[in-house]
Amino acid sequence: MTARIKVKQALENGRPGQELLVKGWVRSVRTGKGVTFVALNDGSCQSGIQVVIEPDLPNFDEVSRMGTGSAVAVHGLLQASPAAGQAMELKARQVQIVGDADQEYPMQKKRHSFEYLRTIAHLRVRSNTFGAVFRVRSALAQEVHRFFAERGFLYVHTPIITANDCEGAGELFRVTTLDLANPPRVGGRIDFGEDFFGRATGLTVSGQLEGEIFAQAFSDIYTFGPTFRAENSNTSRHAAEFWMIEPEMAFADLSDDADLAEAFLKRLCTFALNSCDEDMQFFNAQIDKGLIGRIEAVATATFARMTYTEAIERLKKAAVSFQYPVEWGLDLQSEHERYLTEQVVGGPVFVTGYPKGIKAFYMRMNDDNRTVAAMDLLVPKVGEIIGGSQREERLDRLTGRMAETGIDPESLSWYLDTRRWGSTPHAGFGLGFERLIMYLTGMENIRDVIPFPRTPKHAEF
Ligand code: 4AD
Ligand code: MG
Repeated sequence: MTARIKVKQALENGRPGQELLVKGWVRSVRTGKGVTFVALNDGSCQSGIQVVIEPDLPNFDEVSRMGTGSAVAVHGLLQASPAAGQAMELKARQVQIVGDADQEYPMQKKRHSFEYLRTIAHLRVRSNTFGAVFRVRSALAQEVHRFFAERGFLYVHTPIITANDCEGAGELFRVTTLDLANPPRVGGRIDFGEDFFGRATGLTVSGQLEGEIFAQAFSDIYTFGPTFRAENSNTSRHAAEFWMIEPEMAFADLSDDADLAEAFLKRLCTFALNSCDEDMQFFNAQIDKGLIGRIEAVATATFARMTYTEAIERLKKAAVSFQYPVEWGLDLQSEHERYLTEQVVGGPVFVTGYPKGIKAFYMRMNDDNRTVAAMDLLVPKVGEIIGGSQREERLDRLTGRMAETGIDPESLSWYLDTRRWGSTPHAGFGLGFERLIMYLTGMENIRDVIPFPRTPKHAEF
């Protein structure tokens, strides 16, 4: 018996006349002039393989009637295809219907709206678009690890359950085993001392603080893991569960940090173009016409750098009216970010030196005592894709900022210890993995680059 091979391998390495066994799901069945054509896809590549079934096959009628979505195993001979758009097809010798599908299979049409497909997230993975998205997502995740491995970064698994709200934005999902109907109380408040961990805990909003601990021992580290934010904003760029890549470097400043971010993003652009060619061509043709040109430009560009203060000046001079006010001291909104990267720069731009009032407690204070050594990388269409900073390594400054922002130093005593013993200038950033996938595929909604997206009121799959 011939061993099964994947369609991608058959198309890339197969020779006419070769006998092979493929297995996959039927995208369409079409009968004409007594011959049946089946488009079969096993997820290994975008194109799939055309199977040609002639009437001399004993189960010709049954196979010709099978529905879209059926699972089949086809044993046959590879042959050059006379049809346009494909070099090879498979002439069936034997077709086995492994699992049939009836007319109620929801994906009968070639095109469905992304909104509709989100309601059948368990089936949309068998479509062209989602096949391409999740192949690219998988390939990029592996490239992330290669990039850091080549540079000697240690991969650290930071905890998912944590007692700290790193970003201090109060977006922690609570983790508890307390009886919600009747929680223990002290002085009118819930007593988390009685909870599973003996304290209030939640799902991590960032692995950074633990990552910093590891950087103070291994020099260069990164985390790549799930991140959770109970941000009740229903935007196309926010998810309640997303993946973040967070490198951290000891003996490094903000400029080193931006250099790493730039090299990292360019590397991922180059990789997507070179190694995900078929899927990238698909996105360029079907989703976003200018995609490949834009990614090619970024892969070789020098990223612009501008201070927050300059950014505010440029926005104030802009000949467009924004929905949200532009004022020094206010955070940049998505519309401002996109204006800067799309209209002012026309490519990726690092904005640095944000006012301390709109950034997290751990960022290093600049000499002006008003701004911190923060950087956001903004890219066209997506806006903020990376957020990072040089960290405050001076104990007195750090405790001062914690007092200002109302963080109890006792709760982060382990974090402060790194500033007491062998503190170093250090810096890092976080790349939102889904924002990266959106950027590289042209997909406009974060819900369409996550296998089973979690957003407010949605966790059904
Ligand atoms: O800018 P953020 O909040 O930075 C941090 O969490 C730092 N601790 C990172 C660090 O310095 N190690 O988040 C980093 C990135 C954002 O730029 C964005 O790409 C992504 O994470 N992100 C989200 N992606 C999807 N859904 C959300 N709700 C996101 N929030 C942030
Ligand atoms: Mg940010």
